Amino acid sequence: MSLLIKGGKLVNADQSVFADVYCEDGIIKAIGKDLDVPAGTEIIDAAGKLVMPGGIDPHTHMQLPFMGTVASEDFYSGTAAGLAGGTTMIIDFVIPNPQQPLMEAFETWKGWASRSVSDYSFHVAVTWWDDSVHQEMEQLVKEEGVNSFKHFMAYKDAIMAGDETLVNSFNRCLEIGAMPTVHAENGELVAHLQKKLLKAGITGPEAHPQSRPTEVEGEAANRAIRIAQSIGVPLYLVHVSCKEAVDEIARARQEGQRVYGECLAGHLELDDSVYHNTDWSTAAAHVMSPPFRPKGHQEVLWKALQGGTIQTTATDHCCFCADQKAAGKDDFSKIPNGTAGVEDRLMVLWDSGVNKGRLTENEFVAVSSTNSAKIFNIYPQKGCIAVGSDADIVIWDTDKSHTLSAKTHHQKIDFNIFEGRTVKGAPHITISQGKVVFKDGKLNVTEGAGRYIKRPAFPSIFEAVEKYNQDNAPYKIER
Ligand code: URP
Ligand code: ZN
Ligand code: ZN
Repeated sequence: MSLLIKGGKLVNADQSVFADVYCEDGIIKAIGKDLDVPAGTEIIDAAGKLVMPGGIDPHTHMQLPFMGTVASEDFYSGTAAGLAGGTTMIIDFVIPNPQQPLMEAFETWKGWASRSVSDYSFHVAVTWWDDSVHQEMEQLVKEEGVNSFKHFMAYKDAIMAGDETLVNSFNRCLEIGAMPTVHAENGELVAHLQKKLLKAGITGPEAHPQSRPTEVEGEAANRAIRIAQSIGVPLYLVHVSCKEAVDEIARARQEGQRVYGECLAGHLELDDSVYHNTDWSTAAAHVMSPPFRPKGHQEVLWKALQGGTIQTTATDHCCFCADQKAAGKDDFSKIPNGTAGVEDRLMVLWDSGVNKGRLTENEFVAVSSTNSAKIFNIYPQKGCIAVGSDADIVIWDTDKSHTLSAKTHHQKIDFNIFEGRTVKGAPHITISQGKVVFKDGKLNVTEGAGRYIKRPAFPSIFEAVEKYNQDNAPYKIER
Protein backbone atom coordinates (compact mmCIF):
# COMPACT_ATOMS: atom_id res chain seq x y z
CA MET A 1 0.00 0.00 0.00
CA SER A 2 1.48 3.37 -1.04
CA LEU A 3 0.67 7.01 -0.35
CA LEU A 4 2.08 10.31 -1.60
CA ILE A 5 1.58 13.48 0.45
CA LYS A 6 2.03 16.29 -2.02
CA GLY A 7 2.60 20.02 -1.76
CA GLY A 8 2.74 20.41 2.01
CA LYS A 9 5.25 22.02 4.30
CA LEU A 10 7.11 19.30 6.14
CA VAL A 11 7.71 20.32 9.75
CA ASN A 12 10.17 18.39 11.88
CA ALA A 13 11.65 19.41 15.24
CA ASP A 14 14.83 20.66 13.58
CA GLN A 15 13.57 22.29 10.37
CA SER A 16 10.69 23.01 8.01
CA VAL A 17 10.96 22.37 4.26
CA PHE A 18 8.56 22.20 1.33
CA ALA A 19 8.73 18.58 0.18
CA ASP A 20 6.54 15.64 -0.77
CA VAL A 21 6.50 12.48 1.33
CA TYR A 22 6.15 9.01 -0.16
CA CYS A 23 5.07 6.15 2.12
CA GLU A 24 4.96 2.46 1.33
CA ASP A 25 4.10 -0.49 3.58
CA GLY A 26 3.84 1.77 6.60
CA ILE A 27 7.30 3.32 6.19
CA ILE A 28 8.44 6.69 4.79
CA LYS A 29 10.36 5.68 1.68
CA ALA A 30 11.21 8.98 0.00
CA ILE A 31 11.12 12.72 0.65
CA GLY A 32 11.64 15.34 -2.06
CA LYS A 33 10.19 17.10 -5.06
CA ASP A 34 8.75 15.41 -8.17
CA LEU A 35 9.07 11.94 -6.69
CA ASP A 36 8.64 9.03 -9.02
CA VAL A 37 5.90 6.87 -7.48
CA PRO A 38 4.28 3.62 -8.62
CA ALA A 39 0.96 3.69 -10.46
CA GLY A 40 -1.98 3.30 -8.12
CA THR A 41 -0.38 5.33 -5.33
CA GLU A 42 -2.95 7.26 -3.30
CA ILE A 43 -2.24 10.99 -3.61
CA ILE A 44 -3.04 13.38 -0.79
CA ASP A 45 -3.07 17.09 -1.56
CA ALA A 46 -1.43 18.86 1.38
CA ALA A 47 -1.05 22.29 -0.23
CA GLY A 48 -1.34 24.99 2.40
CA LYS A 49 -1.04 22.43 5.19
CA LEU A 50 1.72 21.33 7.56
CA VAL A 51 2.96 17.75 7.43
CA MET A 52 4.20 16.79 10.90
CA PRO A 53 5.14 13.65 12.83
CA GLY A 54 2.07 12.27 14.57
CA GLY A 55 1.83 13.13 18.24
CA ILE A 56 3.22 10.77 20.85
CA ASP A 57 1.38 10.83 24.17
CA PRO A 58 3.85 9.36 26.66
CA HIS A 59 1.32 9.18 29.51
CA THR A 60 -2.09 7.52 29.19
CA HIS A 61 -4.13 5.08 31.28
CA MET A 62 -6.61 3.21 29.09
CA GLN A 63 -9.05 0.97 31.01
CA LEU A 64 -6.99 1.36 34.18
CA PRO A 65 -8.40 -0.45 37.22
CA PHE A 66 -8.08 2.33 39.82
CA MET A 67 -9.72 3.46 43.05
CA GLY A 68 -12.39 0.78 42.98
CA THR A 69 -13.43 1.22 39.36
CA VAL A 70 -12.04 0.92 35.82
CA ALA A 71 -11.27 3.86 33.55
CA SER A 72 -14.06 4.14 30.97
CA GLU A 73 -11.79 4.59 27.95
CA ASP A 74 -10.46 1.31 26.54
CA PHE A 75 -7.50 0.80 24.23
CA TYR A 76 -9.72 0.65 21.15
CA SER A 77 -11.70 3.81 21.79
CA GLY A 78 -8.77 5.66 23.35
CA THR A 79 -6.29 5.11 20.55
CA ALA A 80 -9.04 6.02 18.04
CA ALA A 81 -9.67 9.28 19.92
CA GLY A 82 -5.94 9.90 19.84
CA LEU A 83 -5.88 9.52 16.05
CA ALA A 84 -8.80 11.96 15.73
CA GLY A 85 -6.59 14.47 17.53
CA GLY A 86 -3.41 13.71 15.54
CA THR A 87 -1.77 11.45 18.13
CA THR A 88 -0.45 8.30 16.49
CA MET A 89 1.19 6.59 19.44
CA ILE A 90 0.60 6.30 23.16
CA ILE A 91 2.80 4.99 25.95
CA ASP A 92 0.47 3.55 28.57
CA PHE A 93 1.27 2.07 32.00
CA VAL A 94 1.24 -1.50 33.22
CA ILE A 95 0.47 -1.15 36.94
CA PRO A 96 0.86 -4.41 38.88
CA ASN A 97 -0.91 -4.69 42.21
CA PRO A 98 1.47 -4.95 45.15
CA GLN A 99 2.74 -8.57 45.29
CA GLN A 100 1.59 -9.24 41.71
CA PRO A 101 4.34 -10.52 39.38
CA LEU A 102 5.36 -7.83 36.86
CA MET A 103 5.22 -10.25 33.93
CA GLU A 104 1.69 -11.34 34.82
CA ALA A 105 0.50 -7.71 34.83
CA PHE A 106 2.39 -7.03 31.61
CA GLU A 107 0.62 -9.91 29.86
CA THR A 108 -2.76 -8.69 31.13
CA TRP A 109 -2.20 -5.17 29.78
CA LYS A 110 -0.86 -6.55 26.49
CA GLY A 111 -4.08 -8.51 26.11
CA TRP A 112 -6.20 -5.40 26.69
CA ALA A 113 -4.06 -3.29 24.38
CA SER A 114 -4.26 -5.76 21.50
CA ARG A 115 -7.45 -3.94 20.44
CA SER A 116 -5.53 -0.69 19.84
CA VAL A 117 -5.94 1.04 16.50
CA SER A 118 -2.65 2.95 16.72
CA ASP A 119 0.80 1.92 17.87
CA TYR A 120 1.45 1.77 21.60
CA SER A 121 4.06 0.90 24.15
CA PHE A 122 4.26 0.42 27.94
CA HIS A 123 6.02 1.81 30.95
CA VAL A 124 5.81 -0.72 33.83
CA ALA A 125 5.17 0.44 37.40
CA VAL A 126 7.20 -0.87 40.31
CA THR A 127 4.71 -0.93 43.17
CA TRP A 128 6.55 -3.32 45.51
CA TRP A 129 9.93 -4.94 45.88
CA ASP A 130 11.54 -8.34 46.23
CA ASP A 131 14.00 -10.51 44.29
CA SER A 132 11.39 -11.50 41.73
CA VAL A 133 10.77 -7.82 40.85
CA HIS A 134 14.54 -7.35 40.52
CA GLN A 135 14.66 -10.29 38.11
CA GLU A 136 11.50 -9.48 36.13
CA MET A 137 12.63 -5.92 35.48
CA GLU A 138 15.55 -7.30 33.51
CA GLN A 139 13.30 -9.75 31.69
CA LEU A 140 11.01 -6.87 30.70
CA VAL A 141 13.95 -4.86 29.38
CA LYS A 142 15.66 -7.71 27.53
CA GLU A 143 12.70 -9.68 26.22
CA GLU A 144 9.80 -7.23 26.05
CA GLY A 145 11.35 -3.91 25.07
CA VAL A 146 10.36 -2.01 28.21
CA ASN A 147 12.94 0.70 28.93
CA SER A 148 11.12 2.76 31.59
CA PHE A 149 9.76 1.94 35.04
CA LYS A 150 7.22 4.10 36.86
CA HIS A 151 7.12 4.83 40.59
CA PHE A 152 4.07 6.31 42.27
CA MET A 153 5.27 8.30 45.27
CA ALA A 154 1.59 8.91 46.13
CA TYR A 155 -1.48 6.66 46.63
CA LYS A 156 -0.55 5.32 50.09
CA ASP A 157 -1.89 1.87 50.97
CA ALA A 158 -2.38 1.16 47.28
CA ILE A 159 0.40 1.47 44.70
CA MET A 160 2.76 3.87 46.48
CA ALA A 161 6.47 3.10 46.30
CA GLY A 162 8.33 4.04 49.48
CA ASP A 163 11.96 5.13 49.61
CA GLU A 164 13.26 1.58 49.92
CA THR A 165 11.51 0.57 46.71
CA LEU A 166 12.64 3.74 44.96
CA VAL A 167 16.28 3.14 45.89
CA ASN A 168 16.19 -0.55 44.91
CA SER A 169 14.36 0.09 41.67
CA PHE A 170 16.37 3.15 40.58
CA ASN A 171 19.54 1.16 41.18
CA ARG A 172 18.16 -1.74 39.15
CA CYS A 173 17.24 0.69 36.35
CA LEU A 174 20.85 1.81 36.23
CA GLU A 175 22.08 -1.79 35.99
CA ILE A 176 19.72 -2.75 33.16
CA GLY A 177 19.70 0.49 31.15
CA ALA A 178 16.16 1.63 31.90
CA MET A 179 14.73 5.05 32.75
CA PRO A 180 13.07 5.46 36.15
CA THR A 181 10.03 7.74 36.09
CA VAL A 182 8.07 9.15 39.02
CA HIS A 183 4.69 10.51 39.94
CA ALA A 184 6.09 13.02 42.44
CA GLU A 185 3.75 13.63 45.36
CA ASN A 186 4.51 12.80 49.00
CA GLY A 187 1.89 10.12 49.70
CA GLU A 188 2.31 10.28 53.48
CA LEU A 189 1.59 14.00 53.49
CA VAL A 190 -1.41 13.56 51.19
CA ALA A 191 -2.88 10.89 53.47
CA HIS A 192 -2.27 13.11 56.51
CA LEU A 193 -3.92 16.15 54.91
CA GLN A 194 -6.87 14.12 53.60
CA LYS A 195 -7.58 12.83 57.12
CA LYS A 196 -7.28 16.31 58.60
CA LEU A 197 -9.66 17.86 56.05
CA LEU A 198 -12.25 15.11 56.46
CA LYS A 199 -12.05 15.45 60.25
CA ALA A 200 -12.75 19.16 59.84
CA GLY A 201 -15.85 18.26 57.82
CA ILE A 202 -14.46 19.43 54.46
CA THR A 203 -15.62 16.62 52.21
CA GLY A 204 -16.20 18.19 48.77
CA PRO A 205 -13.94 18.38 45.69
CA GLU A 206 -12.54 21.73 46.89
CA ALA A 207 -10.61 19.70 49.49
CA HIS A 208 -8.76 17.75 46.77
CA PRO A 209 -6.23 20.51 45.94
CA GLN A 210 -5.98 21.41 49.65
CA SER A 211 -4.86 17.87 50.38
CA ARG A 212 -2.19 17.99 47.67
CA PRO A 213 -0.60 21.46 47.82
CA THR A 214 2.42 22.31 45.68
CA GLU A 215 4.96 21.63 48.45
CA VAL A 216 3.77 18.01 48.47
CA GLU A 217 4.92 17.76 44.84
CA GLY A 218 8.06 19.84 45.36
CA GLU A 219 9.24 17.63 48.22
CA ALA A 220 8.73 14.42 46.25
CA ALA A 221 10.36 15.86 43.12
CA ASN A 222 13.39 16.86 45.16
CA ARG A 223 13.56 13.45 46.89
CA ALA A 224 13.32 11.50 43.63
CA ILE A 225 15.89 13.75 41.96
CA ARG A 226 18.32 13.41 44.88
CA ILE A 227 17.90 9.62 44.97
CA ALA A 228 18.56 9.49 41.23
CA GLN A 229 21.58 11.73 41.70
CA SER A 230 23.03 9.53 44.46
CA ILE A 231 22.58 6.45 42.31
CA GLY A 232 23.72 8.18 39.14
CA VAL A 233 20.70 7.26 37.05
CA PRO A 234 18.68 9.58 34.78
CA LEU A 235 15.12 10.43 35.88
CA TYR A 236 11.87 11.44 34.17
CA LEU A 237 9.17 13.23 36.17
CA VAL A 238 5.64 12.76 34.86
CA HIS A 239 2.92 15.42 35.04
CA VAL A 240 4.99 18.24 36.55
CA SER A 241 2.36 20.73 37.64
CA CYS A 242 3.89 23.49 39.75
CA LYS A 243 6.73 25.94 40.24
CA GLU A 244 8.20 23.98 43.17
CA ALA A 245 8.78 20.90 41.00
CA VAL A 246 9.98 22.94 38.00
CA ASP A 247 12.55 24.63 40.25
CA GLU A 248 13.91 21.27 41.41
CA ILE A 249 14.27 20.04 37.83
CA ALA A 250 15.92 23.28 36.72
CA ARG A 251 18.42 23.15 39.57
CA ALA A 252 19.29 19.51 38.90
CA ARG A 253 19.74 20.11 35.18
CA GLN A 254 21.91 23.13 35.88
CA GLU A 255 24.13 20.89 37.98
CA GLY A 256 24.48 18.50 35.06
CA GLN A 257 22.00 15.84 36.20
CA ARG A 258 20.09 14.11 33.44
CA VAL A 259 16.54 14.88 34.60
CA TYR A 260 13.54 15.22 32.30
CA GLY A 261 10.10 16.72 32.91
CA GLU A 262 6.69 16.19 31.34
CA CYS A 263 3.71 18.50 31.64
CA LEU A 264 0.06 17.97 30.79
CA ALA A 265 -2.13 20.04 28.49
CA GLY A 266 -4.58 20.36 31.40
CA HIS A 267 -1.99 21.72 33.84
CA LEU A 268 -0.83 24.25 31.24
CA GLU A 269 -4.33 25.61 30.80
CA LEU A 270 -6.53 25.17 33.86
CA ASP A 271 -6.28 26.50 37.39
CA ASP A 272 -7.70 25.37 40.72
CA SER A 273 -10.84 27.53 40.47
CA VAL A 274 -12.43 24.49 38.79
CA TYR A 275 -12.73 22.83 42.20
CA HIS A 276 -15.01 25.61 43.43
CA ASN A 277 -17.68 25.06 40.81
CA THR A 278 -21.00 24.97 42.65
CA ASP A 279 -22.03 21.94 40.61
CA TRP A 280 -20.50 18.95 42.46
CA SER A 281 -20.17 16.81 39.32
CA THR A 282 -18.33 19.51 37.41
CA ALA A 283 -15.90 20.09 40.26
CA ALA A 284 -15.42 16.33 40.72
CA ALA A 285 -14.85 15.85 36.99
CA HIS A 286 -11.64 17.87 37.43
CA VAL A 287 -10.29 15.74 40.27
CA MET A 288 -6.93 14.41 39.16
CA SER A 289 -3.52 14.23 40.75
CA PRO A 290 -1.56 16.39 40.98
CA PRO A 291 -4.53 18.78 40.98
CA PHE A 292 -4.92 21.86 38.82
CA ARG A 293 -2.89 24.58 40.47
CA PRO A 294 -3.46 28.15 41.65
CA LYS A 295 -3.15 30.83 38.97
CA GLY A 296 0.48 31.57 38.11
CA HIS A 297 1.76 27.99 37.96
CA GLN A 298 0.44 27.59 34.40
CA GLU A 299 2.74 30.33 33.10
CA VAL A 300 5.67 28.78 34.99
CA LEU A 301 5.00 25.50 33.15
CA TRP A 302 4.79 27.27 29.80
CA LYS A 303 8.11 29.01 30.43
CA ALA A 304 9.68 25.71 31.53
CA LEU A 305 8.48 24.12 28.28
CA GLN A 306 9.71 27.06 26.23
CA GLY A 307 13.07 27.13 28.00
CA GLY A 308 13.69 23.39 27.88
CA THR A 309 13.43 22.59 31.61
CA ILE A 310 10.40 20.50 30.63
CA GLN A 311 10.77 18.56 27.39
CA THR A 312 7.52 16.70 26.77
CA THR A 313 3.77 17.15 26.88
CA ALA A 314 1.24 14.43 27.68
CA THR A 315 -2.33 14.07 28.93
CA ASP A 316 -2.40 11.44 31.71
CA HIS A 317 -5.60 10.44 29.87
CA CYS A 318 -7.55 8.54 32.54
CA CYS A 319 -11.31 8.75 32.06
CA PHE A 320 -13.97 8.44 34.72
CA CYS A 321 -17.58 9.35 33.97
CA ALA A 322 -19.97 11.15 36.34
CA ASP A 323 -21.41 7.92 37.76
CA GLN A 324 -17.89 6.77 38.63
CA LYS A 325 -16.87 10.10 40.16
CA ALA A 326 -20.01 9.88 42.33
CA ALA A 327 -18.24 7.26 44.48
CA GLY A 328 -16.74 10.24 46.32
CA LYS A 329 -19.99 12.12 46.89
CA ASP A 330 -19.46 12.21 50.67
CA ASP A 331 -15.68 11.93 50.73
CA PHE A 332 -13.45 13.75 48.22
CA SER A 333 -10.62 11.24 48.77
CA LYS A 334 -12.77 8.54 47.15
CA ILE A 335 -13.39 10.44 43.89
CA PRO A 336 -11.53 8.44 41.22
CA ASN A 337 -8.56 10.55 40.13
CA GLY A 338 -8.28 11.26 36.42
CA THR A 339 -9.16 13.48 33.47
CA ALA A 340 -9.11 13.03 29.69
CA GLY A 341 -7.30 14.75 26.83
CA VAL A 342 -5.62 12.33 24.40
CA GLU A 343 -7.76 13.79 21.59
CA ASP A 344 -7.39 17.43 22.64
CA ARG A 345 -3.70 17.79 23.48
CA LEU A 346 -2.26 18.79 20.10
CA MET A 347 -5.04 21.30 19.37
CA VAL A 348 -4.74 22.95 22.79
CA LEU A 349 -0.96 23.02 22.56
CA TRP A 350 -1.03 24.54 19.08
CA ASP A 351 -3.62 27.14 20.00
CA SER A 352 -2.02 28.23 23.27
CA GLY A 353 1.53 27.53 22.17
CA VAL A 354 2.02 28.42 18.52
CA ASN A 355 -0.90 30.84 18.03
CA LYS A 356 0.19 32.79 21.11
CA GLY A 357 3.83 32.93 20.01
CA ARG A 358 5.13 30.76 22.83
CA LEU A 359 6.29 27.95 20.53
CA THR A 360 7.49 27.82 16.94
CA GLU A 361 6.02 25.12 14.72
CA ASN A 362 9.28 23.16 15.15
CA GLU A 363 9.19 23.49 18.92
CA PHE A 364 5.60 22.28 18.81
CA VAL A 365 6.76 19.10 17.07
CA ALA A 366 9.57 18.69 19.58
CA VAL A 367 7.34 18.88 22.67
CA SER A 368 4.42 16.94 21.20
CA SER A 369 6.34 14.10 19.58
CA THR A 370 10.11 14.16 18.97
CA ASN A 371 11.34 14.65 22.53
CA SER A 372 9.25 11.74 23.82
CA ALA A 373 10.61 9.54 21.04
CA LYS A 374 14.16 10.51 21.96
CA ILE A 375 13.80 10.21 25.74
CA PHE A 376 12.10 6.82 25.46
CA ASN A 377 14.53 5.62 22.78
CA ILE A 378 12.32 5.07 19.75
CA TYR A 379 13.74 7.91 17.66
CA PRO A 380 13.93 8.05 14.64
CA GLN A 381 11.46 5.18 14.17
CA LYS A 382 8.94 7.57 15.72
CA GLY A 383 8.94 11.32 16.28
CA CYS A 384 10.17 12.52 12.91
CA ILE A 385 9.45 12.50 9.23
CA ALA A 386 12.53 10.95 7.66
CA VAL A 387 13.27 8.20 5.20
CA GLY A 388 13.01 4.93 7.12
CA SER A 389 10.74 6.27 9.86
CA ASP A 390 7.27 4.88 10.49
CA ALA A 391 4.63 6.65 8.40
CA ASP A 392 2.79 8.12 11.41
CA ILE A 393 1.88 11.59 10.22
CA VAL A 394 -0.56 14.36 10.96
CA ILE A 395 -1.49 16.80 8.21
CA TRP A 396 -2.27 19.97 10.11
CA ASP A 397 -4.65 22.71 9.04
CA THR A 398 -3.55 25.92 10.77
CA ASP A 399 -6.76 27.70 9.67
CA LYS A 400 -9.22 25.09 10.89
CA SER A 401 -11.32 26.08 13.89
CA HIS A 402 -12.63 23.38 16.17
CA THR A 403 -14.70 23.52 19.31
CA LEU A 404 -13.68 21.03 21.98
CA SER A 405 -16.68 19.41 23.62
CA ALA A 406 -17.89 16.20 25.23
CA LYS A 407 -20.82 16.39 22.79
CA THR A 408 -18.56 15.88 19.80
CA HIS A 409 -15.30 14.33 21.00
CA HIS A 410 -14.46 10.68 20.40
CA GLN A 411 -13.17 10.12 23.94
CA LYS A 412 -15.29 7.70 25.97
CA ILE A 413 -16.09 10.12 28.77
CA ASP A 414 -19.06 12.39 29.45
CA PHE A 415 -16.95 15.43 30.26
CA ASN A 416 -14.30 17.56 28.59
CA ILE A 417 -12.04 19.74 30.74
CA PHE A 418 -11.71 22.12 27.74
CA GLU A 419 -15.50 22.20 27.15
CA GLY A 420 -16.60 24.92 24.75
CA ARG A 421 -13.14 26.16 23.91
CA THR A 422 -12.68 26.97 20.22
CA VAL A 423 -9.15 26.38 19.01
CA LYS A 424 -7.55 27.36 15.72
CA GLY A 425 -5.33 24.68 14.21
CA ALA A 426 -6.49 21.07 14.01
CA PRO A 427 -5.76 17.79 12.23
CA HIS A 428 -6.89 17.71 8.60
CA ILE A 429 -5.78 14.12 8.07
CA THR A 430 -4.09 11.60 10.36
CA ILE A 431 -2.01 8.79 8.90
CA SER A 432 -1.05 5.74 10.95
CA GLN A 433 1.33 3.10 9.55
CA GLY A 434 0.95 4.71 6.12
CA LYS A 435 -2.85 4.51 6.10
CA VAL A 436 -5.35 7.38 6.28
CA VAL A 437 -7.23 6.80 9.54
CA PHE A 438 -8.86 10.20 10.10
CA LYS A 439 -10.15 12.58 7.44
CA ASP A 440 -12.96 15.14 7.20
CA GLY A 441 -13.78 14.56 10.83
CA LYS A 442 -14.29 10.83 10.31
CA LEU A 443 -12.32 7.91 11.67
CA ASN A 444 -11.52 4.90 9.53
CA VAL A 445 -9.76 2.55 11.92
CA THR A 446 -9.26 -1.18 12.30
CA GLU A 447 -9.45 -2.86 15.68
CA GLY A 448 -6.11 -4.44 16.49
CA ALA A 449 -4.18 -2.61 13.78
CA GLY A 450 -1.98 -0.95 16.41
CA ARG A 451 1.34 -2.63 17.10
CA TYR A 452 3.20 -3.02 20.36
CA ILE A 453 6.40 -0.99 19.96
CA LYS A 454 9.48 -2.30 21.75
CA ARG A 455 11.81 0.32 23.17
CA PRO A 456 15.43 -0.76 23.55
CA ALA A 457 17.45 -0.12 26.71
CA PHE A 458 20.02 2.66 26.91
CA PRO A 459 23.27 0.75 27.44
CA SER A 460 25.79 3.30 26.24
CA ILE A 461 24.75 6.23 28.44
CA PHE A 462 24.16 4.02 31.46
CA GLU A 463 27.44 2.13 31.18
CA ALA A 464 29.28 5.43 30.99
CA VAL A 465 27.49 6.74 34.08
CA GLU A 466 28.22 3.53 35.98
CA LYS A 467 31.88 3.67 35.03
CA TYR A 468 32.03 7.33 36.05
CA ASN A 469 30.50 6.46 39.42
CA GLN A 470 32.99 3.66 39.99
CA ASP A 471 35.96 5.81 38.98
CA ASN A 472 34.80 8.68 41.13
CA ALA A 473 33.48 6.90 44.19
CA PRO A 474 32.35 8.36 46.50
CA TYR A 475 30.45 10.42 43.92
CA LYS A 476 30.72 14.07 44.86
CA ILE A 477 30.11 17.40 43.14
CA GLU A 478 32.67 20.03 44.03
CA ARG A 479 30.91 23.34 44.73
O1 URP B 1 -5.23 11.57 38.59
C1 URP B 1 -4.50 10.85 37.92
N1 URP B 1 -3.39 11.38 37.45
N2 URP B 1 -4.88 9.60 37.64
C2 URP B 1 -4.14 8.62 36.96
C3 URP B 1 -3.06 8.00 37.80
C4 URP B 1 -1.87 8.90 37.92
O2 URP B 1 -1.59 9.40 39.01
O3 URP B 1 -1.17 9.14 36.95
ZN1 ZN C 1 0.32 10.15 38.31
ZN1 ZN D 1 -0.86 8.93 35.16
